[in-house]
Amino acid sequence: MKDRIDKLLSEIEEFTASSKEHVEEFRIKILSKKGKVTELFDDFKTVPHELRKEIGQKLNELKTKAHDKISHLKEKFESNDEGKTEGMDLTLPAETLAVGSRHPLSLVRNQIEEIFSRIGFTVSDGPEIEDDWHNFTALNTPHDHPARDMQDTFYISENPDMVLRTQTSSVQVHVMEGSQPPIRTISPGRVYRNEAISARAHCQFHQVEGLYIDKKVSFADLKQTLLYFSKEMFGEETQIRLRPSFFPFTEISAEMDISCPFCKGKGCNICKGAGWVEILGCGMVDPAVLDNCKIDSSKFSGFAFGMGIERIAMLKYQVNDLRLFFENDVRFLKQFKSVI
Ligand code: DAH
Repeated sequence: MKDRIDKLLSEIEEFTASSKEHVEEFRIKILSKKGKVTELFDDFKTVPHELRKEIGQKLNELKTKAHDKISHLKEKFESNDEGKTEGMDLTLPAETLAVGSRHPLSLVRNQIEEIFSRIGFTVSDGPEIEDDWHNFTALNTPHDHPARDMQDTFYISENPDMVLRTQTSSVQVHVMEGSQPPIRTISPGRVYRNEAISARAHCQFHQVEGLYIDKKVSFADLKQTLLYFSKEMFGEETQIRLRPSFFPFTEISAEMDISCPFCKGKGCNICKGAGWVEILGCGMVDPAVLDNCKIDSSKFSGFAFGMGIERIAMLKYQVNDLRLFFENDVRFLKQFKSVI
């Protein structure tokens, strides 16, 4: 009897199962009414009196071991079932997590920042809710200038001295009020105008302002800086063209075109046959603006420029409707993949 118990004990201990069904088979073989343990209990009747205590104890231990082993194995297969690995091919690659992509305006802004940082420009920030001084007056904008019109600018009704900034040129004033030359900085950010939304206009958009003030800064510096930028942004073959213009805060002022990045200057429907597309406004900072900002215009001069980020992005990615940048439809956004 003892030998049979020991043999069954080692059989139980050594048992390994390959499936839930295999465990169940084993349970029937060992613990069911006709199982080996039950059989041993039946035979217990025949054990002589003096051995009963010892054998009885062994039998009980055997039964407990059998129960423990079987419930342990059952649990193991059931918890596997919860993870539902059965019937699955675990060698297949895992489903990838959908990683978002950067917004095209962020890509372009980052690239602009990166290009200018290579030639020593820092990045500065300013408030989007701005006072009249920083948005208009310090920038030499007369009181009757059309840009100040309610039709163009969002005023804060409780305080008409405050506006949603209409241009990042306001950051120029903050920078100049807070530091002395040499100043070499760009200021990207959101601006607002009271415009009806269409494919070509929006009540909010983004600009990057540039400002360079030092001793003896000339128009040649302006031209060279913008040529460098244009080539880095649109390709080495890019040409620039400066046309006389007017801005209240620059004297002289210009508008800058680049050779059309699509037809390389030959003329296409994007440049409307001109071979050139306008990308920014620029000029030499008006001495009155320097004086407004407590920078001595007899010692220092500088240039400034301002461009629309949407405009650059539209040219770079051939987007023909401004609204796409603000609707944030993932079918549009997921087409822009880049490391920056
Ligand atoms: N602030 C101008 C605008 O919103 C753009 C601009 C033009 C900025 C000339 C400048 C500049 O700094 O020199 O249209």
